[in-house]
Amino acid sequence: MALWGGRFTQAADQRFKQFNDSLRFDYRLAEQDIIGSVAWSNALVSVNVLTADEQQQLESALRVLLEEVRANPQQILDSDAEDIHSWVEGKLIDKVGELGKKLHTGRSRNDQVATDLKLWCKAELPGLLNAVRELQKALVATAEANKDVVMPGYTHLQRAQPITFAHWCLAYVEMLARDESRLQDTLKRLDVSPLGCGALAGTAYEIDREQLAGRLGFAGATRNSLDSVSDRDYVLELLSDASISMIHLSRFAEDLIFFNSGEAGFIELSDRVTSGSSLMPQKKNPDALELIRGKCGRVQGAFTGMMMTLKGLPLAYNKDMQEDKEGLFDALDTWADCLHMATLVLDGIQLKRSRCQEAAEQGYANATELADYLVAKGVPFREAHHIVGEVVVAALKQGVALETLNLTTFQAFSPVIAEDVYPYLALQSCLDKRNAKGGVSPYQVAQAITEARHRLR
Ligand code: ARG
Repeated sequence: MALWGGRFTQAADQRFKQFNDSLRFDYRLAEQDIIGSVAWSNALVSVNVLTADEQQQLESALRVLLEEVRANPQQILDSDAEDIHSWVEGKLIDKVGELGKKLHTGRSRNDQVATDLKLWCKAELPGLLNAVRELQKALVATAEANKDVVMPGYTHLQRAQPITFAHWCLAYVEMLARDESRLQDTLKRLDVSPLGCGALAGTAYEIDREQLAGRLGFAGATRNSLDSVSDRDYVLELLSDASISMIHLSRFAEDLIFFNSGEAGFIELSDRVTSGSSLMPQKKNPDALELIRGKCGRVQGAFTGMMMTLKGLPLAYNKDMQEDKEGLFDALDTWADCLHMATLVLDGIQLKRSRCQEAAEQGYANATELADYLVAKGVPFREAHHIVGEVVVAALKQGVALETLNLTTFQAFSPVIAEDVYPYLALQSCLDKRNAKGGVSPYQVAQAITEARHRLR
């Protein structure tokens, strides 16, 4: 049964109906629609549209329906109802008869769908926050387990300065901590109820909307009815939160794919998250990571898509807005999947310690140290930088590392260089010296691990 038959003399074309109906995806709002309906039935008692007894009958039927839906949400898809709102109302009428037809008094699907979707988003948040935190915990655990694995840090994908694997892990902890705070921030603006705004102009019944909002667990009620039924900022914000976090995950994936490559060989991924080639028997491919990197695209697509859907949309509700759901559902599902998968990848990761160390020793990652050494001996930094550049060219010509050049060679470039240069050039010294807050020194990294653990408790 459609909710709006009276004005029409012709039935909808089947092709239009298919095009228009949203049940096949908005069935996911069933619980929220029912809970919102219970709250609305209570509001209707306060304005004498329903008696307490009638409200009781509606509420019990809605609660039975809620149990049925929880037990088997897929059953909803068997119906040819237009959307979840029609489905719930139809089911209610099946259960209680004529009385069910009173529920929609003073309410519109426009304030209803906005309320349902906000409730749904609020229900998703704990799971997402938890997934973000679990990945941070896995990163901290991986950092702890690999505190002393030295590897090259890169800029321009050129070996730049030595770092530790732990320091790399902690960089992603920081990104995810921001993702977490962005989600929490989104909740603050999302947490106001549109219910009782009617189709666009407000409801004609003198309902206490603040009380109604409180019943639904919202922090308050929205202030303007036109805005309330057409606001989808919260969808954009969540899609943006997901998009930014997926960018972090795709960079994480790309780093690990590179570390796992034959060329770098810094890590070995677990068999549990890799797959083989149908042709090349030797292959073990980082599919989990490639999919994380790849799925970043569809999440950005959902965000851009929703931005474009809302652009230039006149006030208030337009059917365009029905396009908010599929992208949001898919983006948040994808984000959660990728967070879980990234956690699983870390769970079985193996570091190839000596290979990492070897790579850190190559590539003149300690050249900055030599410049700092010269500075300590009174050479201005700019000049020191130039001298070291020349030393590197000489070492490159011989195909050797800086620390293997003999003192006479060094002194040909600068007479201030003495025997005490060698400990300066050791990898450990490069790390130890970066001991200001946020640096890679073992002390700072241990400190960062402790602080992260504390935050993630
Ligand atoms: N299925 C619709 C949506 O998702 C519900 C709101 C319909 N409102 C309307 N006036 N047609 O947006």
